[in-house]
Amino acid sequence: MSFRRVKPLLLCLAGLALAGTAGAQIPLFNVVTGEPLDLSYALEEGRDTEAVKTFLETGVNIYNENPETLKKGEEVFLTACSGCHGHHAEGKIGPGLNDDYWTYPGNDTDAGLFRTVFGGAQGQMGPQYGHLTLDDMLLSMSWVRHIYTGDPATATWLTPEQQATFKPYPKTTPEPEE
Ligand code: HEC
Repeated sequence: MSFRRVKPLLLCLAGLALAGTAGAQIPLFNVVTGEPLDLSYALEEGRDTEAVKTFLETGVNIYNENPETLKKGEEVFLTACSGCHGHHAEGKIGPGLNDDYWTYPGNDTDAGLFRTVFGGAQGQMGPQYGHLTLDDMLLSMSWVRHIYTGDPATATWLTPEQQATFKPYPKTTPEPEE
């Protein structure tokens, strides 16, 4: 066989190898049942952003403390989360998300937080994949991290550089349940 005929075959094999590595993804499972999360349920839109790709490969949310996207994160949080968790995530129907106490200890990592948001937890904390794109989930998570009122030293989801400059968000009193 001449090289001219083999070349397309080699390219094809290289392509297959690449496709294999592109599938590498952080482990994601439901926080309550432990079942793997099926990302094929995600809305079509917002799957291929740089933030989503980076997050699925590394567990790092590049929207954290990003001055260009925090405002969008706030908007998503106020639309999709604050009704239950309070305007400053101080707690309402759902628990406070702005301190370092977590019902599900994995929520002190962004992979853990994503698992809770995508797949839901118990009771009214339903899976968010029907309402929010993967990108919006990461945006809402960055706002949850931004309004953290605790000690920056315990904000392990931030990079060491971000931890060094992070200013805890002012505390507010929980709103009464409706
Ligand atoms: C309809 C009400 C409701 C909405 C909307 C809602 N949550 Fe929740 N959330 C809850 C409840 C109730 C719980 C407690 C569930 C449990 O303990 O299993 C909870 C739990 C959580 C937890 C786990 C907290 C812990 O201590 O481990 C996180 C994280 C969370 N929600 C984030 C979010 C984010 C982010 C959004 C918006 C994208 C959101 N939630 C939208 C009601 C809601």
